[in-house]
Amino acid sequence: MGEKGRSIVDLNVDELVGELRKAYLDELLAFYSYWITAQVAEGWHGEELVEHFEEEAKEELGHAGKLARRIVELGGDPVVHPRDWEAGANGPWTAPRADWSDADGMVEDQIRAERNAIEAYNRLAKLTFGKDPVTYQLATELLADEVRHEEFLENLLGRRHRRG
Ligand SMILES: [Fe+2]
Ligand SMILES: [Fe+2]
Repeated sequence: MGEKGRSIVDLNVDELVGELRKAYLDELLAFYSYWITAQVAEGWHGEELVEHFEEEAKEELGHAGKLARRIVELGGDPVVHPRDWEAGANGPWTAPRADWSDADGMVEDQIRAERNAIEAYNRLAKLTFGKDPVTYQLATELLADEVRHEEFLENLLGRRHRRG
């Protein structure tokens, strides 16, 4: 914990850490969701989608790492037992569909999850604006990534539909 770094945060730091922990768990679940979906994907046309899900998984894990480090900087503790991940997150995790060949459905589910992430980081950015420039910068960086993820998936779904 950096004493001065923590003291310049013009917010209730414990509450802020609580928000960051929820976002951190969202990211761990997002990582797992993309990753396990890529592993079980059955007969998805071409490799583009599977590769994209694997890349996406890595990015979400990177987000989790950035949030964990910010939590530690603020004197918080990001260590959560895996059994408590979903209960501590903002939302439920996105399980792969029962039909592993339903690529469109799984992309739609991830678009929904990305939209939830966009809402969460937009809220965090508003909360920290003018109050905590370091977390604000992190929130907007992650927000921009999630906006890009949503757009990419929407375009991908559109291309798949046009191909029929
Ligand atoms: Fe993310
Ligand atoms: Fe994302």
